[in-house]
Amino acid sequence: MKRICVIGAGPSGITAIKNLRDEGLDVVAYDRNSEVGGNWIYTEEPGHSSVFETTHIISSKTLSQYEDFTFDEFDKSVADYPSHDELRRYFQAYAKKFDLYEVIQFNTLVLHCERVDNTTWEITIEQEGKVSKEIFTDLVVCNGHHWQPRHPEYPGEFTGEYLHSHEYKKASAFADKKVLVIGGGNSACDVAVETSRVSKKTGISWRRGYKIVPKFIMGVPSDVFASKLNFLPLKLRYALANLTVKIATGGNKLYGLQESAFRVEQSHPTINSELPYKIRHGKVIPYVDIERFDDKEVHFKDGSSAIFDTVIACTGYVLVHPFFDNEFLNYSSGPVPLYLKMFHPTYSNLYFIGMFQPLGCIWPGSELQSKLAASELAGNWQRPANIKELCEKEVTNPHFDQIKTPRHTITVDYHLFVKALKKELPKNHPNKKYKKAMA
Ligand SMILES: Cc1cc2nc3c(=O)[nH]c(=O)nc-3n(C[C@H](O)[C@H](O)[C@H](O)COP(=O)(O)OP(=O)(O)OC[C@H]3O[C@@H](n4cnc5c(N)ncnc54)[C@H](O)[C@@H]3O)c2cc1C
Ligand SMILES: NC(=O)c1ccc[n+]([C@@H]2O[C@H](COP(=O)([O-])OP(=O)(O)OC[C@H]3O[C@@H](n4cnc5c(N)ncnc54)[C@H](OP(=O)(O)O)[C@@H]3O)[C@@H](O)[C@H]2O)c1
Repeated sequence: MKRICVIGAGPSGITAIKNLRDEGLDVVAYDRNSEVGGNWIYTEEPGHSSVFETTHIISSKTLSQYEDFTFDEFDKSVADYPSHDELRRYFQAYAKKFDLYEVIQFNTLVLHCERVDNTTWEITIEQEGKVSKEIFTDLVVCNGHHWQPRHPEYPGEFTGEYLHSHEYKKASAFADKKVLVIGGGNSACDVAVETSRVSKKTGISWRRGYKIVPKFIMGVPSDVFASKLNFLPLKLRYALANLTVKIATGGNKLYGLQESAFRVEQSHPTINSELPYKIRHGKVIPYVDIERFDDKEVHFKDGSSAIFDTVIACTGYVLVHPFFDNEFLNYSSGPVPLYLKMFHPTYSNLYFIGMFQPLGCIWPGSELQSKLAASELAGNWQRPANIKELCEKEVTNPHFDQIKTPRHTITVDYHLFVKALKKELPKNHPNKKYKKAMA
């Protein structure tokens, strides 16, 4: 009899639990938090979540919903780009609707996972300071990949206040300060826009040029607008996406930002309509990459320098699994050779859910991954015999040829990924009738 351990009750963990239980499987889930929602439980205390007081998602609600519980079924009034609180409520309503709370043990930290053999895992947990061990047949890992800060390093020392975006919670703490934000991703652009509302000065330092995608194109959320081109081959689809961004923004030079030498799909997309606006209103000042720190003075690679009170490094997150021994598994600097970003080439009783970075939303993909894992565990689907080869192929033939920086090891195209997962689902699986809007 199978007994399955799920680590995490965030957006990926809850859909894993739901779909495993739909197949009649015995599941126990552990989460270090005290509620369902993972990253989407905003709190000012340091912890797992990396969202800010003002975070709204960058993928629109149309393309950011579970097939089994849509936003319309939850609350029709949710915004096009839901806030962190609307999402927290959505995930908790999902957990209630499918009776998931009864198998989730909260305030439980998974300390260590030891794979004994093909049918046995020994899981060490900590609950209220007490450490104990539990035995399971299979392990489903849903611990998220946006919570372990990646810090930059520069010559010299910055003697002002320094923090990572993981610790940034609200702008009011930076009122009347001179703030420098580092990075060109979604955290950096969101944080710079927010601090600029109250700071004495906000600068943003980019180590290269990034293409900034507006949140709406012709009044339609950008991902919905782009999905109208889904019938086209990938290359043509993104050629049109690049042209659309160029027409919509006019290019970075107009805002004093470095032009991007790369196409939209060669990086994880930065989606922000307010940054160009704030720059053109003199509220955010663009800088190039940092050369060195000297006390509170920051020297940039173009020879300029300026004094700052605070540096906020929005330099991303490291993919970590602290509960595995490093020799067993370590994906922190890539590559990540997993079939469909979830099946390990040799450890057949280990699954990863949500450990991919789509150009789009994560949890609809997590939902499909969960259905596939559940199908296999229930004996309704068999992994391909050439799984090692397929894992290798995913690494050598990614959907996109992205720039080689640490954040780009698990990228997928949302639509191709969803299609590949659906294709694998057993023929009689209800998801074969996946709604057209999501396809
Ligand atoms: C500011 C911000 C905005 C984002 N916006 C978007 C967006 O617009 N669209 C999108 O798709 N994605 C977005 N993301 C990415 C985000 O990772 C996903 O939205 C989503 O949270 C992934 O769900 P998850 O369940 O895989 O991971 P998480 O939400 O991180 O949940 C992981 C869960 O595992 C638990 N856990 C971890 N380790 C342990 C352990 N050792 N023991 C016990 N429990 C453990 C945690 O407590 C947590 O509850 C954003 C991320 C950030 C930081
Ligand atoms: N509103 C939202 O929905 C929202 C808000 C925030 C975050 N998010 C999501 O959360 C995830 C993490 O986003 P993130 O912005 O925190 O991280 P990220 O996507 O990894 O971006 C990190 C940025 O920092 C740069 N960087 C990394 N190391 C650097 C260094 N040493 N010096 C200078 N620059 C460096 C990266 O540049 P390179 O490109 O050159 O590597 C990149 O521009 C993403 O999935 C994102 O979409 C969403």
